[in-house]
Amino acid sequence: MKYEKIQAPKGVSEYAPPLSAAFEWVRESLISPAKLAGYQLMELPVFEDTSLFSRGVGESTDVVSKEMYTFEDRGGRSITLRPEGTAGVMRAVIEKGLDRGQLPVKVWYSGAFFRAERPQAGRFRQFYQVGIEAIGLDDPAIDAEVIAIADQGFKSLGLKNYRLEITSLGDAQSRAAHRVDLLKFISKLDLDEATAARAAINPLRLFDDKRPEMKAAMAGAPLLLDYLSENSAQNFKAVKAYLDQLGIEYLVNPRMVRGLDYYTGTTFEFIHEGLGAQSGIGGGGRYDGLMEILGGQALSGIGFGLGVDRALLAAQAEGVLVENQFSSDLFIIPLGENQMSACLSIAAKLRTAGIRTEIAFGDRALKGAMKAADKSGSRYVIVLGDSELASGSVELKRMSDGSTRSVKIDQLQSVLLGDL
Ligand code: HAM
Repeated sequence: MKYEKIQAPKGVSEYAPPLSAAFEWVRESLISPAKLAGYQLMELPVFEDTSLFSRGVGESTDVVSKEMYTFEDRGGRSITLRPEGTAGVMRAVIEKGLDRGQLPVKVWYSGAFFRAERPQAGRFRQFYQVGIEAIGLDDPAIDAEVIAIADQGFKSLGLKNYRLEITSLGDAQSRAAHRVDLLKFISKLDLDEATAARAAINPLRLFDDKRPEMKAAMAGAPLLLDYLSENSAQNFKAVKAYLDQLGIEYLVNPRMVRGLDYYTGTTFEFIHEGLGAQSGIGGGGRYDGLMEILGGQALSGIGFGLGVDRALLAAQAEGVLVENQFSSDLFIIPLGENQMSACLSIAAKLRTAGIRTEIAFGDRALKGAMKAADKSGSRYVIVLGDSELASGSVELKRMSDGSTRSVKIDQLQSVLLGDL
């Protein structure tokens, strides 16, 4: 009997060698600036009580109304695979009482997220984010720092062709004043039922409508930025001044609408020029009321989520991934069983010094092993035979130009470290 092959579910992103090394590098590069800034790991479940997202992320969003993977577990509870990270972090911070300790609470996370979107290039049903949240401090300096940390992540990948867009959704007073005029404006539009329903929950969503007729209809709509209270305007000005001082370029986009409903105050998005429709490589902002509606104290917070899959696509589009960037430094070919034990010891010692060392395993002829060395992309190769072990010296071959030099086995470490 012949079994049929089983395929991965539609739209999931997954990484196998050789691309997985680049994925790992992108993920680590994106989050390391946060670690350097004192953010600490939060490792959370990938499934949560459904109400965490319906309440926290908002019923008017596509994420909650159309894209959640929700199911009943064996105990009859409604469970949802996390579509984003912020609500879960809030839930855990409240549950563990971190909000009663030193503020701000500063955490980072990394992992898989799930949205039942229509799959296309750069849009997956399971995708990867790294993110941070800074909770419990209302200060424009921390807004600027959070944005700067995200920017540093993209810069450390070597990305250049992206832009940062920012805006402010103001405080409750600003949004209330704007909402009155926006609803007045919208009431004059001829909206279909679904759009009207969305507008009733969150009228700002109409700015996000991609249909040309809606774009045209919204062209003259009142903009929230023009309704900022004195306090919100001062805050936004201070955030911009800090960004200027840090040399971080940005574009103020008063029509930006984030896909999640909890945002207030400073909000931002990073957009890459080389990715087509799915160009958002990261985004975030402040969320004043989130902790409170999840049953915690009235503490504000700010954070971001960066798309690891999209950042990897952006790195490929900009050609910043260098060939053999992730391959071994040294490939050792033992000529026979006698040499294998020496080879294992040499490799173990070099690896403790941080030198990426591979061994040619299996009973291969020298030619086959050299081919494997070539394929591995290793920078250097040595062959270990009887005469090498007897003399204590090997020929260290540099693969980029084929040049060789004689090196004492016990000096391999210092020679390689000097060269790498
Ligand atoms: P978000 O803008 O929904 O924000 O997602 C952040 C990033 O995740 C996006 O910019 C994008 O790069 C990536 N992303 C989102 N959906 C997909 C998908 N279907 N396929 C591939 N990549 C995707 C949030 O999730 C907020 N929790 C960020 C945040 C943290 N705000 C405050 N704190």
